[in-house]
Amino acid sequence: MNIPFLNLHPLHDPIREELKVAFEEVLNNSWYILGQKLEAFETSWAAWLGCRHAVGVSNGLDALFLSLKALGVGPGDEVIVPSNTYIATVLAVSHAGATPVLVEPDPRTYNIDPDRIEAAITPRTRAIMPVHLYGQACEMDRIMAIAEKHGLFVVEDNAQAHGATWKGKKTGTFGHCNGTSFYPGKNLGALGDGGIVTTDDDALAEKVRMLRNYGSRQKYVNEVVGYNMRLDELQAAFLSVKLKYLDAWTQERQRLAALYTEILQGVGDLVLPETHPDATHVWHLYVIRTRHRDALQDYFKQRGIGTLIHYPVPPHLQQAYAHLGYQKGDFPIAEELAETCQSLPLWVGMGEIRGVVEEIEKYFYAS
Ligand SMILES: Cc1ncc(COP(=O)(O)O)c(C=O)c1O
Repeated sequence: MNIPFLNLHPLHDPIREELKVAFEEVLNNSWYILGQKLEAFETSWAAWLGCRHAVGVSNGLDALFLSLKALGVGPGDEVIVPSNTYIATVLAVSHAGATPVLVEPDPRTYNIDPDRIEAAITPRTRAIMPVHLYGQACEMDRIMAIAEKHGLFVVEDNAQAHGATWKGKKTGTFGHCNGTSFYPGKNLGALGDGGIVTTDDDALAEKVRMLRNYGSRQKYVNEVVGYNMRLDELQAAFLSVKLKYLDAWTQERQRLAALYTEILQGVGDLVLPETHPDATHVWHLYVIRTRHRDALQDYFKQRGIGTLIHYPVPPHLQQAYAHLGYQKGDFPIAEELAETCQSLPLWVGMGEIRGVVEEIEKYFYAS
């Protein structure tokens, strides 16, 4: 059997000609940075998502960093992030010069637990960064209410949840300024790095536009100390082609995830992903949990099935964050997730997932 964890060929092959045309157009325009292709993609993404502004940037980490910078978050400030997130969320806080404060997730949805947020708020807290992890929307109304009560900003990390909704509203439209990633393996992926900041606030959008381009609105006039963090024309052109198919791709992901859930019910000690009744899930990742995780992963490997772990080491136990002084045991839910979670292959064009399920069944029924 050969089922890789991710295969982008079935996604790209049917639109190969359209992607080539997009490439030719950029080549013919001879304009590679901050041009019409970027403007067109920003307009389409804002319309598709349902927000006023979208500002294309270099990648997801920079989108989160620029969101925090535009909001004025900096040294001396604390920012609340989930304890089980991908490291990029935490890095964005550090790059802004602020201190990340970790809050445990709800073990059912793996998203930040709103019941635990208020206990982490101090006079230095400036923002909350909910992460719609694995593709499921966080409980955004409760998070926004907590933020409002305490006068905090919200920056959504929407890297994994393109098109997910909370009570019918898309993620990336709740927070004051939000970041997403178009890393190639994301639900909407560029053919390289890419990201975008979304906001309804005209002034914030303008700030991000300036910050991503050397702090400049007018060539050679630098109003603030900015960065070079732009989404280039080529990636914007590819993303515009792919955006047309995103809803159909999401439906296919949802079909595959529903099949996994149906067939894996009650197998071994597996804990299957749960979706909150008010949320939708776009299944960037289908993550199961088992006490036999490491053995199961080896078993899959021997049988040519690719699986990954998202994520094996939680941020508080990473060497990069040793200076925060956290110990093993400080975030038991994040630690347990790191020890038991396993992401199964799920990609558009995968066809059926029965081969993967059969191997899981064989593993549990034989052991
Ligand atoms: C939750 C989350 N946040 C942020 C990022 C950062 O995105 P990028 O790799 O485009 O910098 C990623 C993906 O890598 C992610 O999964």
